[in-house]
Amino acid sequence: MDDAALSGKVLGLEEEIRDLNIKNDQLKRFLEIGKILNAERDINKLIPLVMIETRKCVDADRCTVFLINLERSELPAKYADGLQDQSIRLELKMGIVGMCVLTRKILNVMDAYEETYFKREVDRSTGYRTQSVLCAPFFDPKGEAIGAVQLINKKSGLFTRQDETRIRDTCCLLTNMAQTGEFKKDAIEPLIAGLRKATDSDRGSIFLLDRKEMKLSSLIAEGLEGPSIFVDLNLGIAGYVAITGQEENIPDAYSDPRFDSRVDRQTGYRTRNILCLPIKNQVGDILGVIQVLNRRCGVFTDSDVELLRALVPQIAIAIDNAILFEEQNQQWQSFLEVLAASIDAKDPLTAGHSHKVAEYAVGIARELGLSETEMDILRVSSLLHDYGKLGVSDEVLKKPGKLTAEEYEHIKQHIPRTQSILSRMRFMRRYRGVPKIASCHHERLDGTGYSGGLKAFEIPFMSKILAVADVFEALTAKRHYRDAMSVEDALKILEKDIDTKFDGTIASAMKRYLYKLPSD
Ligand SMILES: [Fe+2]
Repeated sequence: MDDAALSGKVLGLEEEIRDLNIKNDQLKRFLEIGKILNAERDINKLIPLVMIETRKCVDADRCTVFLINLERSELPAKYADGLQDQSIRLELKMGIVGMCVLTRKILNVMDAYEETYFKREVDRSTGYRTQSVLCAPFFDPKGEAIGAVQLINKKSGLFTRQDETRIRDTCCLLTNMAQTGEFKKDAIEPLIAGLRKATDSDRGSIFLLDRKEMKLSSLIAEGLEGPSIFVDLNLGIAGYVAITGQEENIPDAYSDPRFDSRVDRQTGYRTRNILCLPIKNQVGDILGVIQVLNRRCGVFTDSDVELLRALVPQIAIAIDNAILFEEQNQQWQSFLEVLAASIDAKDPLTAGHSHKVAEYAVGIARELGLSETEMDILRVSSLLHDYGKLGVSDEVLKKPGKLTAEEYEHIKQHIPRTQSILSRMRFMRRYRGVPKIASCHHERLDGTGYSGGLKAFEIPFMSKILAVADVFEALTAKRHYRDAMSVEDALKILEKDIDTKFDGTIASAMKRYLYKLPSD
């Protein structure tokens, strides 16, 4: 080999070593993150750590995490690494980050100033010059986008495919963080599949115990398509394990008198052997059973039993969380119903107003393409929007004629009352915006509303929807001071005030929604 070829080869090798070193370095960093993740459970401390590592990994100048704030239609920066002023707020559905959240895709932009949707105002206000941008969304347990990670200005050239993989990893991490503590059937399914492989069996399943109905219902049943199946608690091996709490390793199902062959007959499956263990929570209550069927070679062994035992605590925690979550949800829904009913009880003539407003508001929201979460927040805000009316005197509320200026002022007080009562309620995280949304339903775009006299951009988007739904419902229902108006007349009144008092897009969505409704 001549000198030139040799030096070429050396150069090639040097480059390869450099690449390997970089990869090694990145791997080390991610191992570090792994260690931190195991030790640290506080998401507010974790996000900055993950961000610093990600920024270093891809050699970017800045890294920012944005979290969607639905009630303000904003994307405030949750963490901004490499930036002094951390109070950046972007408008939702605008700019590169907004576009990334909207399309749910990774955006790799070479020159931000070449993109029509790039918002130059942010650069102008911070004095920074953005050039290359890499942006990726992350999601909540329901798969809805809850935020985005943005990397700005790669120091060495442009963002690469490898950087895209890296930011995708970071977003997976953030998605997982958002899901921590929340029950996901999807999280248990791989466990069962792994268990089936490890025990060399044909099928794995989990049944949940319903003590009231004396039944077991399938949470996961491999090999069985369709909805959950229910098994009588007094029949079969699974029922026996759920009642007694004993582990059962049955080498030949059909020779065991407790075995119930009806499921086999219904499904055409032939059960040979069964390994079934109870799932108990920390205090020893039986939550359900886990079972594997038909070991491919021979019968289930002691080490198979050990494997199942090792898995049970994780499954028990997931099920316990799911039960708790369901109970909390039911309690919350019943509270909401009671609160809405207590406003209705105040005046039989306006009874059902809050439910009707909720129905219209959600209908508008669906037309506008809002997410399920947004519609839920809107529904709750609608149900509680007039809560402060509990403090309005009956004489004024039920007065048949025109109100005096003084009486009108008294009615207007239901807004600060709603605000004050609702802000004293401890809402779950997703409903934190409800007091604000509910108490802005009488604000108008031109600032002539009450109680804040807020103008267009100061009013939360959901309050603007609530305003249209509220006025439409009030006009089309009978009131103490007038009869019910027809849908057409009510829409005409709304249309007259479009862009001065009501948002035109919202009013059009209301119209579209109404015309889709079956006429009664
Ligand atoms: Fe109101």
